[in-house]
Amino acid sequence: MGKEKIILTGDRPTGRLHIGHYVGSLKRRVELQNSGLYDKTFIFIADAQALTDNIENPEKVRQNVIEVALDYMAVGLDPMKSTIFIQSQIPELCELTFYYMDLVTVSRLQRNPTVKTEIQMRNFETSIPVGFFTYPISQAADITAFKGKLVPVGEDQLPLLEQCREIVHKFNNIYGETLVEPEAYLSKLPRIKGLDGNEKMGKSLGNAIFLADEPEVIQKKIMGAVTDPEKIKIDDPANPDICMVYYYHKLIGNENLETVCKECKAGKRGCVACKKELINKMLEFLKPIAEKRKYYEEHPEKVEQILKEGSQKAKKVAEKTIKEVKTSMKINYFD
Ligand code: TRP
Repeated sequence: MGKEKIILTGDRPTGRLHIGHYVGSLKRRVELQNSGLYDKTFIFIADAQALTDNIENPEKVRQNVIEVALDYMAVGLDPMKSTIFIQSQIPELCELTFYYMDLVTVSRLQRNPTVKTEIQMRNFETSIPVGFFTYPISQAADITAFKGKLVPVGEDQLPLLEQCREIVHKFNNIYGETLVEPEAYLSKLPRIKGLDGNEKMGKSLGNAIFLADEPEVIQKKIMGAVTDPEKIKIDDPANPDICMVYYYHKLIGNENLETVCKECKAGKRGCVACKKELINKMLEFLKPIAEKRKYYEEHPEKVEQILKEGSQKAKKVAEKTIKEVKTSMKINYFD
């Protein structure tokens, strides 16, 4: 038990994925999936978790399950190598959550920094949905049901991983070694900034390039990106370090980066020309992704099939874990 190297991670389907997601995490997930170093990879769409603060928007969540699945396919997650599934289709996760709830105190949840920040961000104040408040417990179920050992996540998820490890410890202590303790697999990359210079590229911040954006949309967004405000005239020298256009040249690996930097500093590069160059590079960078996405958009039945088979496969794994859990807890009466 626990010897298999299993990768597991998920995304809340609250919007389409953007280039920040791609560079910051999806790209590496695909590399991990293809590396052959891991025994299994589970990638799931956390629709049940998304509903904990979107209970009045079922349509939005449902639509975004499809969008996220399309984005997964577009970037190269491969159902032959990764089990891709929908969280709500695995009822065993609810069952696990129910038992784990006994191992966590209300005050411990209240102290969880991620939950704290999220409660503030959503202005829940005193009307916090119980399901939202307890989602760290259900996230522990997500991870442990599949014996996830490496969990690729961003830094904001660390308190949730910590909470999961505590649950695993406590469970194993009381009921005997059953669950596998996960580790966060942190992205080495810093958070990706938005086109407006905001520290975070966000779905709701209006500063993101989405993987599914049409070329005209990308063009418009890049033309509006923030540059060095001190540069007024076309031949003014500027500081590329505070320019978002330069930042994106760098992010997508423009091979002429040095020239871009030199010319910018020397006042030999106008911002409009620089943006046009970025638009071309960006479209080139996103082209293979856009093409794959288009293919799956035109074959929704294939996406459905992948999610259905992935969910069936994942359910089998979760069934096995719940069986072990119930045996450990001595509630396996009819075995
Ligand atoms: N909380 C994650 C997010 O906000 C989604 C998620 C749900 C998750 N369950 C998980 C991530 C288990 C990693 C492991 O995107």
